[in-house]
Amino acid sequence: MKRTVLTVAAAGLAAISLAACGGGGGNGDGGSTDGGDSSSTEEAAGGNADCTGTTADKVFKLAFNQTEQHPQYVAAVELGNKLAEATDCRYGIQAYANEQLGSQADVVNDISAGAVEMMYIGGPVMEGFNPDFIVFNLPYMFDSIEAQQEVFENTEALAELFSSLEDTKNITVLGALHSGVRNVYNSVRPITKPADLDGLKIRVQQSDSQVKMIELMGGVASPMGQGEVYGALQTGVLDGAENNPTVYNALKHDEVAGYYSGTAHLLIPDYLLINTEVLASMGDDEQVFLDLVSEAILDANTGFIEFAAESQAASEEAGAVFNTDDVDVAAFKEAVQPLIDESINNPVRESLYELVQQANEAHPAK
Ligand code: GCU
Repeated sequence: MKRTVLTVAAAGLAAISLAACGGGGGNGDGGSTDGGDSSSTEEAAGGNADCTGTTADKVFKLAFNQTEQHPQYVAAVELGNKLAEATDCRYGIQAYANEQLGSQADVVNDISAGAVEMMYIGGPVMEGFNPDFIVFNLPYMFDSIEAQQEVFENTEALAELFSSLEDTKNITVLGALHSGVRNVYNSVRPITKPADLDGLKIRVQQSDSQVKMIELMGGVASPMGQGEVYGALQTGVLDGAENNPTVYNALKHDEVAGYYSGTAHLLIPDYLLINTEVLASMGDDEQVFLDLVSEAILDANTGFIEFAAESQAASEEAGAVFNTDDVDVAAFKEAVQPLIDESINNPVRESLYELVQQANEAHPAK
C-alpha cells in the first residue's frame, strides 16, 4: 500500500539563516501559546463546528515528548481543531505532551500496533525500523535550513522512504519537520575542539549513528530517551547532551549543564507519523486531513525558528554560557567524515545523499 506524501511549502522559512547555536532573528509569539482549544483557533480554522479537536467523534491520540509551549504541540492542537471543523466533527486530535504516552522509542511501537494513532519522532529513532533513514541524521549533512527544506519538499523523491514501513510496520510518515540545529552542552567546560570532549559522557538519541557520531567527535556516547536526561545530568550519570536550544531551555538542561557550545553538528528532522490503517480508514476525509497536515508542518517549522531564538536568550538570561565563534567546526567535520563515508553504502542512500548535495549547492551556508 502506498499512501500520499505531503507537499510542505517552505515559504515561511525562506528568510531564515542558519546560526550555529540555533539563533535567528525572531521575537514573535509563535511558541508562547498554551495550545489549548481556544475559540481563536476555531475561528482561524474558519468555522463554528460544535466540537473541537478533542471532542470529535473519533479523536486520534498524538504523542509528543516536549512541552505544550513547543510549536509542534501548538500546531498539533490547531490541526485537531481544523480537522474537526473540516470533517463536521468526524475526526479530531488530542495531543499529549511531555512523554505522557511514553518515550519515542516506546510509542513508535504503539503506533505500529494501532494503540496510539499519531506521534512526532526524532529522525534517528526511525533508523531502528529502516536504516536508510540514516542519511538525514548524519552530522553536517545539510548546509542550511533552506537546503533541508528543499529536500523535505521533494515529495516524489521521498515517497519510497516515507512509505517504506507501511506494509511491514503499519506506519506512514506524513512529513518531515525542521527541528533545529543541535549543539553539544555539558556541565564541565566549554567545548571548542574534539579533544575537549575527551572522557565526557554525552547523551544521544537512541540510534547507532548518533552513538558513532559522538564517539568520533571525541566524547563517550550514552543513548537514552529524552525524559531521563535531566535527572542523569543532575546526578552526574551524564556530563552533557546534544540538542537544540529549545530542549536545552524548555527541559531545563541549562540548569544542570551550563556550557552550550556551537558545534552545530546536526540539522536533523522530526517526522510526523500516523498508523497506516487509521489513515486509510478516513475515506474521503483522508485528503482533507493530508492538506491540513501540510499546513500544520509549515506552522510548526515557522514557529520553531522563533522558539529557538527565544530559548537561547532565556538560557543566557538564566546564566548558561554559550560559545560559538571559538568552536573549530572544521575539526569536528573532519572527525565525523568516516561515519558519512561508511553510511552512504547502498543505492537508496546514495540517491538521497545526492539529493542533499544538490540542495546544499542551491542553498549554501550563509
Ligand atoms: C529534539 C527533537 C525530538 C527528539 C529530541 C531528543 O527535541 O525534536 O524529536 O526526541 O530532540 O533529543 O530526544
